[in-house]
Amino acid sequence: MSMERADITFLVNAAPVTVSVPPVSRLSCVLRDELRLTGTKVGCDAGDCGACTVLVDGQPVCACLTPAAAVAGAAVTTVEGLANGRLSALQASFLRHGAAQCGICTPGLLVTATALLEKNPHPSEAEVRDALGGILCRCTGYRKIIAAVMDVAAMELAHRDTDLDFRLPEAGKAVGASPIRLDGVPKVTGAEKFGGDSFPENALAVLVLRSPHHHARFAFGDLDAWVKAHPGVAGIFTAADIPGRNRFGVIPAFADQPALAEGMARFRGEAVALIAAERAVAGDLDLGDFPIEWAQEPHTLSMEEALADGASLIHQDRVANLLTKGLVERGTPEEALAQAFITASSRIETSFVEHAYIEPEAGFAYLDGDTLVVVACTQAPYMDRDDTARVLGMPAEKVRIVPTATGGGFGSKLDISVQPLIGLVTLKTGRPAALAFTRTESMMATTKRHPAIMRATAGASADGIISAMVFDADFNTGAYASWGPTVANRVPVHASGPYATPHYRAEGRAIHTNGPISGAFRGFGVPQATIIQEALYDQLADRLGIDRLAFRLRNCLRNGSETVTGQKLEAGVGIGACLEALEPHWARAMSEAEAFNAGEEARHFSRRRGVGIASCWYGCGNTSLPNPSTIRVGISPAGTVILHQGAVDIGQGSNTVIAQICADALGLPLEAFVLKGADTAISPDAGKTSASRQTFVTGKAAEKAGRTLRESMLRYANVSDAASFSLDGGALVIREGDARRRIDLVGLPADADGFVFRAEGTYDPPTSPLDAKGQGSPYAVYGYGAQMAELEVDLALGTVKLLKITAAHDVGKAINPILAEGQIEGGIAQGIGMALMEEYIPGRTENLHDYLIPTIGDVPPIETILVEVPDPEGPFGAKGLGEHSLIPTAPAILNAIRHATGVTMTKVPATPSRVLAAIQAASR
Ligand code: FES
Ligand code: FES
Repeated sequence: MSMERADITFLVNAAPVTVSVPPVSRLSCVLRDELRLTGTKVGCDAGDCGACTVLVDGQPVCACLTPAAAVAGAAVTTVEGLANGRLSALQASFLRHGAAQCGICTPGLLVTATALLEKNPHPSEAEVRDALGGILCRCTGYRKIIAAVMDVAAMELAHRDTDLDFRLPEAGKAVGASPIRLDGVPKVTGAEKFGGDSFPENALAVLVLRSPHHHARFAFGDLDAWVKAHPGVAGIFTAADIPGRNRFGVIPAFADQPALAEGMARFRGEAVALIAAERAVAGDLDLGDFPIEWAQEPHTLSMEEALADGASLIHQDRVANLLTKGLVERGTPEEALAQAFITASSRIETSFVEHAYIEPEAGFAYLDGDTLVVVACTQAPYMDRDDTARVLGMPAEKVRIVPTATGGGFGSKLDISVQPLIGLVTLKTGRPAALAFTRTESMMATTKRHPAIMRATAGASADGIISAMVFDADFNTGAYASWGPTVANRVPVHASGPYATPHYRAEGRAIHTNGPISGAFRGFGVPQATIIQEALYDQLADRLGIDRLAFRLRNCLRNGSETVTGQKLEAGVGIGACLEALEPHWARAMSEAEAFNAGEEARHFSRRRGVGIASCWYGCGNTSLPNPSTIRVGISPAGTVILHQGAVDIGQGSNTVIAQICADALGLPLEAFVLKGADTAISPDAGKTSASRQTFVTGKAAEKAGRTLRESMLRYANVSDAASFSLDGGALVIREGDARRRIDLVGLPADADGFVFRAEGTYDPPTSPLDAKGQGSPYAVYGYGAQMAELEVDLALGTVKLLKITAAHDVGKAINPILAEGQIEGGIAQGIGMALMEEYIPGRTENLHDYLIPTIGDVPPIETILVEVPDPEGPFGAKGLGEHSLIPTAPAILNAIRHATGVTMTKVPATPSRVLAAIQAASR
């Protein structure tokens, strides 16, 4: 039953408005739906994320918790009201500092910080942290946000209006510079359109009925009668309505997940039916009387139970709950361990971790002739197209995916979510259809980081040289496959860490349970494996009496080393340089901790400082599989460089980095570039945004495209490679020595795409398949890093206070140093969550109130050291970084806890109760 409406008048960004809405309507909905001010974002609708923050009479409030009636007569300020003809000093500072990555949290942060600076023009850092404490950011690690606000706080008031200089680097100087993000301005003005920001007025709203049970059979009652009894409902759609193959999955050979379950739900939150309704009634629909009967089946969330003899099968058509396994074996590890001077062993468990991007999955679909167009947030438009087409029984070329801005992904938005559901409704009704997952739906239904149960033993000689390691791990991949096979195969390649390990065996298994689906999450299982490997290295070093950093330096891979897959690394191995960069920090931190602990012990106080270190290496791109990217670049008659850049920028900065690479390869300035984003109907396939591949793989394609375009222009002008180009309106100006020549571009014939010069570059990293023992060259390029954590543990409470993280990452070449730092800080923040607080429990932590991610108060100062050991294969020597930055953080923190307390945490996250229990158990 729809509610009475009332006219409510208030000011929005100084302009009077009157809306006719139910007085209890959320202010966030009024702003977004009635006034189309979509700069105000919705991440939770529950007061937990702060994305919806606006100012009411100058005070920050959560618009999702504020009834429309409460702002009658008030002045509301949204992000759209901050720029007054030009960007405010704070908006500009966010751009300069790279404080907006995906940008979904940015509006809430900007309005809140604006209110703070209004009230207190020169706040301290602690006051900034306090003021912004209620707003979550999952991308940045908050440090650049603090820096951006502090920068404005340090400015004299009179200078805050000074015009801002965002000059882009000149030709040939883009690589290595840190221009503001080329897609940055809309992120700070609120103009950016994310998945839920541009639903067509006439779109049907789609509601998803989901399983409340971990495992249950179901049968529908009289659906037609229910539709008839609910005016405004256009239809109900179930698995029976799916025209294609009702199975999707990121790895086609393992595609096993129904878009809508077929009589059996295998995990809590699985979609079973769609209800399409007019938007005016959809919000008031009560699904409590939906005609469905559930019959619960026994379920298991535990891998041990799923693997036990006689365990019931999650998939009846399979013989076991083991999905797949991966192996890497080299030498004779058991013999080497038996002969080792010393060995160390551990068993460690990790938990489900939720991606918790602030933008829940959202998008809309419509028909353009006989082509289904899906406009949604994503990391992988071409994979979405193929999966959606398969489910809907359409040829791939009849499905067009147009990515919106994506408010964080971190791996989970590689799998399709809303796409086949809204596509089905549109195909069946002929109407546009729109769906934005609620926060709870997003958390229940989308993928997680795999929980792991890991066992490992490593051995070393008396002088601290690693001789062998054995590792085996089970990864809980939940009810369906998703990226389980990738995790099972990638982990054994990486579980040695970036250390020479002559004798080695590692096995990874993906196990089905009735848990949520585990998929890709920044590192594909490698962050979990690194926790146990680095714990063993600490134990070995301590027992041998060797400094822990020195122990790692003694064993790290070098140019010419062979990896555990037998791949000879000829050049570009930067882990030694990363560890060496940490040495002075390590010496300082160790002596500070020692002095602090001596003082605490003398006074019988309970705090202890610890310092931990861990390393990472990570192969960039797919493991032993093709993963090409293609970039197209052309010159228009008007003299602009059009860059078709299909590598989806989910906040990491590919729009800017790829353009920087292309600009320098071409020899034209960045300011001449116009970006055309991903669109499967227009842009060439630049692959998925995952596996830290875009800077390396797509960057290399952009370098090739830029060079090819340059060559064709040189040829046309009949000049040598020493010539330089510039664009002057519609003319190309060529200089060679003292000679200068103009080519009138308008006079040249343009091709069907409107280019007078054009080129494409494709790059696919050279790899070789792994044999039955996992031997081969799975990646063309690896990136490296090492991090150090300093912290304090309260031995009486089990609480951990982080003091500082120092991170040295070998990026080959920092194409854009500020964006690289942002990736590192963001990865560290997620690593902190993984180490200390994040544990997704189905049915218990399906919101951002019970599931805790790091806030601005949880991330300590971070010192980033960019190490540049160029890789000859990478564009300008660059390597990937996105996942590397997270991998060492949790192990460094856990090793610091061990240094402070003497206990190795065997269950992660190391919550205060677990730390305390471990300390107490060790003291018994
Ligand atoms: Fe309002 Fe999250 S949407 S606090
Ligand atoms: Fe903050 Fe993405 S930039 S959530």
